[in-house]
Amino acid sequence: MYQFIDGKLVSQSVKDRIRDEVSELKAQGKEITLAVIIVGDDPASRVYVNNKKKACEYVGFRSLEYALPAETTQEELISLINELNDREDVNGILCQLPVPKHIDDKAVIAAISVEKDVDAFSSYNVGKIMIGDYDFLPCTPAGVMEMLSYYNIDVDGKNCVVIGRSNIVGKPMSMLLLHKNGTVTITHSRTKNLADITKEADILVAAVGRAKFVTADMVKDGAVVIDVGMNRDENGKLCGDVDFNSVAEKCSYITPVPGGVGPMTIAMLMQNTLKAYHIQDNQ
Ligand code: GUN
Repeated sequence: MYQFIDGKLVSQSVKDRIRDEVSELKAQGKEITLAVIIVGDDPASRVYVNNKKKACEYVGFRSLEYALPAETTQEELISLINELNDREDVNGILCQLPVPKHIDDKAVIAAISVEKDVDAFSSYNVGKIMIGDYDFLPCTPAGVMEMLSYYNIDVDGKNCVVIGRSNIVGKPMSMLLLHKNGTVTITHSRTKNLADITKEADILVAAVGRAKFVTADMVKDGAVVIDVGMNRDENGKLCGDVDFNSVAEKCSYITPVPGGVGPMTIAMLMQNTLKAYHIQDNQ
C-alpha cells in the first residue's frame, strides 16, 4: 500500500512558516519584494507566474510583474534587469523561462545580480550548490528534499536515481541528494538499459518531460517515486513523467501530479526571496 507525498500540505507548512516571519518583519515596517518578468504569452508560463504572484500575496511579499511583449529585444530585457538590480526596494528577481528564441537565456540569467537570483540559476549560485555552501536553494530540487524530510524519508546510503540532466532540475537534484549521502546515478535520454538502472533505485526522481515515461517494470518494489513532470496526456489531461496508475502499487511513497512537486517549487521560491531580503538587509 503506497502513501501519497502531499505537496500541497508540505508547501502550505513552508509558506505558513514564511508568512509568520514576514508578518513580524512587517510589524517593524520592513517590506520584501519579488520582481517577476515574463516575456511573450506562453500559456504555461502565464499560469506559473500567476501562481508565483498568488504565493507572494499569501506570504505577505510585494510582487512586481513586468509582462513584456514577445518582440522585446535582449537589450531591452537586460536593461530592465539592470534597473531592478540597482533598486534597493527589490529583493528578488526572476525571469520566467523559456524566453522567446531571439533572446539568449544564458545572458538573461547572467544579468541578474547573484544576490537577487532567487531561482539560483546563475553560474555563481550553481557553483555554490555544487560545493554544498549555498544561500539560494535550487527551487524544484529543494522542494523535493523538503518533501522527503517532511515524510521522514532518509536519503543516507540509499540508491537514488535521477532521470533527466537539466540545469534546472536533474543536475542540482543530484547534488542535493549527494549532499545527504545518497548514492546517486544520473540517467538521461542516451542512457542504455535505463530500466536496469531505475529498478535498483530506492528513491527514483523522474524529470524527463515525457508523459507517463516511467512504467511499473522500471520501478523496484517499495521504492519512493518523485514525479517532477508536468505534461498533457493523449486526452489533454495534466499528468507527470510517471505512469501513476501502474506504478503507484509498487511504491512505498509517490507524489501525485498535480499536487506533488509543483506547489513545492513555488514555496521554495518564497523561501529564497526571504533569504535574499536577509542577505541584503545585513549589509
Ligand atoms: N521555467 C520553468 N521552471 C522555471 C523556474 O523554476 N524558474 C523560472 N524562472 N522559469 C522556469
